[in-house]
Amino acid sequence: MADKTLVILISGRGSNLEAILAARLPARIGAVISNNPGARGLAIARSRGITAAVVDHRAYPDRAAFDAALAAEIALYRPDLVALAGFTRILTDGFVGRYRGRLLNVHPSLLPAFPGLDTHRRALEAGVRIHGCTVHFVTPAVDSGPIVVQAAVPVLPGDTGKALANRVLREEHRIYPQAIRWFCEGRLRLDAGGRVVVKAARSPKTALLSPAAER
Ligand code: GRF
Repeated sequence: MADKTLVILISGRGSNLEAILAARLPARIGAVISNNPGARGLAIARSRGITAAVVDHRAYPDRAAFDAALAAEIALYRPDLVALAGFTRILTDGFVGRYRGRLLNVHPSLLPAFPGLDTHRRALEAGVRIHGCTVHFVTPAVDSGPIVVQAAVPVLPGDTGKALANRVLREEHRIYPQAIRWFCEGRLRLDAGGRVVVKAARSPKTALLSPAAER
């Protein structure tokens, strides 16, 4: 099977991009594209010899025009999969529809809890004991769409948003490359109910309790 081609969309820091690159996936990275010319992730891509392109949303009059330009740039690389990795622009339904089943996102919460922004602060405010991250296929509604994999972490006493974000981010860096690997290996499919089935993945048998009772 020929390697799949990926295009990765970023807006900033690019730590998930780094994790994806470090995972040595059976894939070719066609390009890293950012809407933000100052994104650190662009430099990461260039330093690895990967094409880094900018489609600056501020240069377009509206979302539709930006999405059309973004889609035209992506199409140059003929990707099998487009991975959003800290990409902060909301995409139009037309764009999302074009990449149906080929557009993944990582979100820093256990969806459907805490869609949108500021997930770590909101999790702390809500007093949840378990938080985490989700990789999902993108559908028109923001931060919804069939879930591929989630990782849960405990919320610890005294946690700050930053501490919690770092704990979650470490898990993002595990599950996002894993999900992309499954896609590249042809192991993801949607069942009739629109749920993701992962071929030959192991299911954990234990529960994460937070806090756990003394032993
Ligand atoms: C990650 O927490 C991701 O889940 C969210 O934005 C952050 C991006 O971080 N959508 P990075 O640019 O990958 O370092």
